Formats: sequence, structure tokens, C-alpha cells
Amino acid sequence: MAATTAFSDLRHEIAGVPILDIARRFGTPTFIYESALIQQRIDDLRAFDTIRYAQKANSNLAVLDLVRRHGVLVDAVSAGEIGRARAAGYVPAGDPPPIVYTADIFDHESLDLVVEQGIHVNCGSPDMIAQYGERAPGREITLRINPGFGHGHSQKTNTGGEQSKHGIWHDQVGDCLALAARHGLKIAGLHMHIGSGTDLEHLSQVCGALERVALTIGTTITTISAGGGLPTPYRTTDQTVDIAAYYELWDATRRRLQAAFGHPVRLEIEPGRYLVAESGYLVAEIRAVKRMGSNTFYLLDAGFNNLARPILYGAYHPMSIAPADGATDRDRQAVVVGGPLCESGDIFTQTDGGVVGSRMLPIAKVGDFLVIERAGAYGFTMGSNYNSKPMAAEVMIDPNGNTHLVRSRQTFEDLIRGESIPAVDAKSPSL
Ligand code: LLP
Repeated sequence: MAATTAFSDLRHEIAGVPILDIARRFGTPTFIYESALIQQRIDDLRAFDTIRYAQKANSNLAVLDLVRRHGVLVDAVSAGEIGRARAAGYVPAGDPPPIVYTADIFDHESLDLVVEQGIHVNCGSPDMIAQYGERAPGREITLRINPGFGHGHSQKTNTGGEQSKHGIWHDQVGDCLALAARHGLKIAGLHMHIGSGTDLEHLSQVCGALERVALTIGTTITTISAGGGLPTPYRTTDQTVDIAAYYELWDATRRRLQAAFGHPVRLEIEPGRYLVAESGYLVAEIRAVKRMGSNTFYLLDAGFNNLARPILYGAYHPMSIAPADGATDRDRQAVVVGGPLCESGDIFTQTDGGVVGSRMLPIAKVGDFLVIERAGAYGFTMGSNYNSKPMAAEVMIDPNGNTHLVRSRQTFEDLIRGESIPAVDAKSPSL
């Protein structure tokens, strides 16, 4: 079993670049991504035939381009994510398919796009099979199956079982085969994703479930996908997953299917968090330090509009202080860390259910920086413009220590783009 990770709560640089320089050049709040770490995580998974990046975790074009250049293919869950993949240089079709559209529905735009561009579809509902078959008979599809169980780091990220809307229920496979046959669609593969931030024990149960369904479908199957869900260590005590052991389980499943079918079966993995979480840091400035009864608050210029994981799931992120005076030693105190938003839940140190907690952190003052770490997955992509806050800037640090602004901070003009005030009619001046 792999080791745990140590964090330091006083930090002066990220990938060799001083945090004070980053803050001065790009302002705050800003997401910083260390590209070398993404490359390392990709290399961890090289045993799988195909690594397919679940871009919902972080779909910045620079991240997509980076993973593409390292041979990683991509998953898309919307027309917008297909567009991003194309903008980052992925071609629409090929073998294996460079882009796979995985969802439980098609909106009209995504259906038009996959039909027109020949993008592979992984169907998560019988209705998708029917709608795709009508428009593109004769093509290959894969099926996302809900095996009847699931597990995630939070109930909100559990994507299996009958409480989940995801995938095709495992006992409806026969009906789906008939539906596909009616439209001449060939079921070329199977996919299961039981949840995000799960553990090896639950992930391992998927192999057997997928194997059973694959044997029911038979020899048209040439691809199996283990889905995503690999956890990332957020706490010092979190264990990292034994990737070699996980691969062995899937490879054994694949080999049994190959023996049963008499032809090769390609094994895919579809990680989001695992590839990018550790690479990301959200750098914010402390703008107020205030006491409320027995609690001391550090209030940042970043809030849940930038990183929603704590308010949504009670998620824990490591934090560190970058002192503006470069101090290398500071006493610690218990603090509550919050953001600027006009909402009580705008607290980064909360646990599930919105319980406000505290964290031991170096004593800090206004003008110091606070770094929220392991924020590369589901950070920026889940951001919003709540309270009319612009989306943060994003910066990538390359393996040579060069910084690249890969998304500029939104401007006020960006915030109001597309809005208009109706012309006032002289006869009915009030709307
Ligand atoms: N494949 C499918 C079909 C998925 O639905 C997901 C995640 C993934 C792959 C990638 O899962 P990962 O390897 O990242 O665990 N916002 C939540 C996570 C939601 C995940 C949604 N689907 C969070 O911040 O924890």
C-alpha cells in the first residue's frame, strides 16, 4: 500500500516559483497548476491501454492540450466539453475514439454534434440509444451500466445504485440490446463508473459486475472501461491507491473476456480527480482577520464561487500560509477560514452538513496569502459568478519553472456580457 503525504502549512513557493511573485503578477484569487505533477499522475496509469481524461475535473484548454500531448484521450459530457476537446486539438473520430460523449441524456445541441462529427457515444439511458439510433443508424456505441451499487467520498458523488440517475440499470441490458438492434447499432463496449473519490474495495467490485454484463452481450464487446473514481490524498492520513493492484484486477477481467470472446479487449480508465487534483493550488489574499467570540476568522478574497467543494460536500483541503514578509517561522492558532461572499456558508473549514470547524494554521495578518491546496480537480470548473464575482485567473507552471497565464481573470464586461435592459415603452413605462 502506498505511503501517506506530508503537507507544510507555511509555504513560500509553488514548483519553485515564489507565491509573492505569483500574487503580484497575476493578482488573487488565482489557480496555479503544476504541469509536472499532471504528467506524473498520467505516467502512474500507463499500464492501461487507454487513459481517458474526465475533463469535468478541469477543462482549461492548457490542461487538455497537456494531457493530449501525453497520449491521453478525453471524455466529454456536454456539447461545450466536446468543443473544448476540439479546441485543444483532439480530432473527433478514430480508433480508439479520441473523444467519447458520456451522459444520461442528449440535449439537442449535443445530439447534433455527435451525429455530425462522428463522435463516439457512451449511452447512459435507453432513450439515448433510441434517439441516437434514429439519427445515426449503423454506428457503434458503448453502454454505461449502473451495476446496482455505488460509492463515493460523499453521497452526492455516489453514481451507482437505485438512488442514482446514472447509467442503464443492469437488468435492462436485454431490452437495450433489442433497442440497439432495431436501429442497427453495434454495442462495442461497456463502461461502469460507480462514484467519485471511492476506494479500492468498492472499485474492485466493479470488475465482476462488468464481466457478467459483458458475457451477456457477447462478442461484439471490444472495449471495457473501468470508469474514474480513483481517490486523491487530501489529508495527511489518506492512503494513496495501489494502482498496480487495481490494474491487475482489471487486467485479469479483461483476459477472461478475451478468452471467452476469442479476440482482444481494450481496457480503458477514465480518471478526472486523480490526474489533476494534486497539481492545483488556489492562491488567495487574507483581507480581514477578525474575532467572533472565541473564533478567529481569516477572510479571503476567494470564496465558494471559486472552490465549492467544502460547501457542497464538507470537503477537506490542505491549507498553507504564504507570509507577505517571507517569515519562515510563525506560531499556530486555530482559525476559521472563510471567503468574501454574502452567505454564511462561505466557509472553507466546514464539515459535512455545514458544521463550521477550525484549522490550526500559522498566525497571519491582512496582506498575507493563504493557499488552498489540492484544488486542481473540481475547483475552477465548479466556480460561479455568485455575488457578481469574476471567475479567477488560472496559471500553469511548466516543468522548467516558467509561468503561463492560461486564463485571464474575468472582467466586469465579461460579467454582464449578453445582458440587456429592455427599452422603456413610453405608453407602459413600468415593465
Ligand atoms: N467518469 C464519469 C462517467 C464520471 O461521472 C466522473 C465524475 C468521472 C469519470 C471522473 O471521476 P473522478 O475520477 O474525478 O472521481 N464534483 C465532485 C466530483 C463529481 C464527479 C462527477 N463525475 C467533487 O468535487 O468531488
